[in-house]
Amino acid sequence: MLLVWTGNLSVGVKEFDDDHKRLLRMINELGAAIRAAGAHGPVEEEEIEITLHRLENYTQYHCAREEELMAKTRFPDIEDHRREHQFFFATIAEMSQRFRGSTDPRHATELMQFMYDWLTNHIYVTDMKYASHLHANGIF
Ligand SMILES: [Fe+2]
Ligand SMILES: [Fe+2]
Repeated sequence: MLLVWTGNLSVGVKEFDDDHKRLLRMINELGAAIRAAGAHGPVEEEEIEITLHRLENYTQYHCAREEELMAKTRFPDIEDHRREHQFFFATIAEMSQRFRGSTDPRHATELMQFMYDWLTNHIYVTDMKYASHLHANGIF
C-alpha cells in the first residue's frame, strides 16, 4: 500500500501542505524499510531505526511550526491542538519503546499504521480548523 497525498488533505497553507506530503512520503519509506527487514533480516532493522527517527524528528519540527504560527496569530483553539500533538508524541514514544525491545515485525507495522491513521485524521479534523483562521490573517 502506497500512501499518497490528495487535494482533500489540503489545509490551504503551502508550507504545511508541503510538510504533510513529506510526512506521508516518510511513512512510505518506513513501510519500505519494514518490508525489507522482513525479507532480509537484521541488517535492515537499522534502516527502520534511521527512518523512524527521521520521521519523528520531522513531525516534531512540523508540529512546532504549526503551534508557533497559531500562537503568533492568536488562534483560539491552540490548546486543544497542542494537546493532540502531545498525545501523538507520547504514544509514539511508548510504541517505539515496544518496537525497539522486540524482534516481532508486527510492532513496527503497528507503529507505522498508527502514524498514518493519526496523521491523516489529524490533518482532516484538527489541522483543517486553523485553515480559515490563518487565511483571515493573510497566511496561505
Ligand atoms: Fe497539527
Ligand atoms: Fe499538521
